[in-house]
Amino acid sequence: MNDSTKKTAPRFRSARWFDDKAHADHTALYLERYFNFGLTREELQSGKPIIGIAQTGSDLTPCNRHHKDLAQRVKDGIRDAGGVPMEFPVHPIFEQGRRPTAALDRNLATLGLIEILHGYPVDAVVLTTGCDKTTPATMMAALQLDIPAIVYSGGPMLNGWKPVSCDGDTGDGERGELEERVGSGTAIWQNRERLAKGELDYAGFMDASAESVPSVGHCNTMGTALSMNALAEVLGMSLPGCAAIPAPYKERAQMGYYTGRRIVEMAFENLKPSDILTRQSFLNAVVACSALGGSTNAVVHLLALSRGLEGVKLTMDDWQQYGEDIPLLVNCMPAGRYLGEEFYRAGGVPALMKQLIEDGLIDGTQKTVTGHSLAHNCEHFSVRNRDVIFPTAQPLMENAGFAIMRSNFFDSALMKKSVINPDFRKKYLQNPDHPNCFSARAIVFEGPEDYRARIDDPTLDIDEHCILVVRNVGPVGYPGSAEVVNMLPPKRLVKQGINCLPTLGDGRQSGTSGSPSILHISPEAAVGGGIALLKTGDWIEVNLATHRVDVKLSDEELAERRQQAHIPVPVNQTPWQEIYRNSVSPLDTGAVMETEEEYVRILDEHPVGRHSH
Ligand code: FES
Ligand code: MG
Repeated sequence: MNDSTKKTAPRFRSARWFDDKAHADHTALYLERYFNFGLTREELQSGKPIIGIAQTGSDLTPCNRHHKDLAQRVKDGIRDAGGVPMEFPVHPIFEQGRRPTAALDRNLATLGLIEILHGYPVDAVVLTTGCDKTTPATMMAALQLDIPAIVYSGGPMLNGWKPVSCDGDTGDGERGELEERVGSGTAIWQNRERLAKGELDYAGFMDASAESVPSVGHCNTMGTALSMNALAEVLGMSLPGCAAIPAPYKERAQMGYYTGRRIVEMAFENLKPSDILTRQSFLNAVVACSALGGSTNAVVHLLALSRGLEGVKLTMDDWQQYGEDIPLLVNCMPAGRYLGEEFYRAGGVPALMKQLIEDGLIDGTQKTVTGHSLAHNCEHFSVRNRDVIFPTAQPLMENAGFAIMRSNFFDSALMKKSVINPDFRKKYLQNPDHPNCFSARAIVFEGPEDYRARIDDPTLDIDEHCILVVRNVGPVGYPGSAEVVNMLPPKRLVKQGINCLPTLGDGRQSGTSGSPSILHISPEAAVGGGIALLKTGDWIEVNLATHRVDVKLSDEELAERRQQAHIPVPVNQTPWQEIYRNSVSPLDTGAVMETEEEYVRILDEHPVGRHSH
């Protein structure tokens, strides 16, 4: 910032707390307690912007815990650029540790952050992100307030490795074929098959899972965490190259310093999310998600984010229209073989975006937090490893986006085409008489507990012509929509080498899972969606060419079942669960809080609240 910027600098909203000469008593109350850790009146009344650091790291959110250290470099950058940093906690959101679901906490953390940013003297904010929902939760708050904000991700863990000799697998690494990569989450989904086969015992299963966790950082696969941070960068909300830098690399902390510097400039420029994000930037993200082989959860989060600004709203149809035909280019687990470290070394998000811009798949003119366009930001990047980021003309897989499915018993669902493996394709989608089409007998479970209790029940007579159905696991039903749809077949089948059956459900699955499930069925069973009417033994026809999933029942039969249906009333265990259930929208509109008013760009109309004393 030069002197001329200083002279024309706006009077920041924090001055209404810290320097209001007409209300000396208020100002004194607001000011004095910040002195007790060493801040001075001079700096708080200097006209410098107060820069919030929304801290998502804690012992309860281990994927983001290193942000507690990284924040120091962010603060250094803020100080050097002429701002005053103030770090504060965000409600913890740990994907794997929160029961019943971390999905409950996304909206809670968003609400909490909105209240903090609205109610305290903060002029701009650094959003520390990482673990799955920490990224959308914090971004949703910044978008709704429309406050200058920048995303600073904590980065993926280093690669996990395991010795090949452990189980005789063929190694795929460059380490002399003696080790192979172990991806977080993905390893657990794979190892549970080995557990079911009896190849691993309880302790062996725990040890094998730990192999995927070599360092600080979030999941190293292209799960929800890396997908969402990559998409935040595609949206223009973080500095170029930020998303994929592995957590322990020196560049990660250096990026924190640059992010701190840049947010101060953004505060002076008053560069807000609404100046950056357009409908086109969201469509860019839809395209990039397909090319990345990104998480199914990204669909929900981008739908939710797009509702935080006027005029950019995404729909499921947009995912179909703009995303499905896009090829898979990034060779990362679960759709591919590499991990975040290689993605970063291959050039990461800017190299991928440069290619997508050059090939006309995304619009490089979109603005970003740098103040420049995406194309400008990517200029000096290029793909450094073609086995990690494939050329668009010779992709890893054609037409690899999400198929948006419609049905005679639901409105929408999605299927991730990039994880349809050759086995599944051969078994279910390559019947010469009915290509892309299969029929299967439904085995219906009322939830994951019911699934675990009965999956090995021989009377269900589950075989390869079955589809496993799980319901009551959506946003209202669970609550929070559980990641349980990627159900493993009965042990008996797994031992025969049948590791995957078609599955369908009104919940979600982990972004690290490679199952080609039919997910996010909306409306969900708990609000009376047609999935509540299915019975074990029904025949379900799936057609990937026409995007249909139909139960072979007449309208009359379905209507009769609806008359007889008993929809269980969910039991709330906490006050927030009740509030959440009463206000949450379906997964196909982002599972956001449905409020009477559209609270977007709050600071425009209500820059500050009333005085507290
Ligand atoms: Fe936190 Fe995967 S569980 S990033
Ligand atoms: Mg998850």
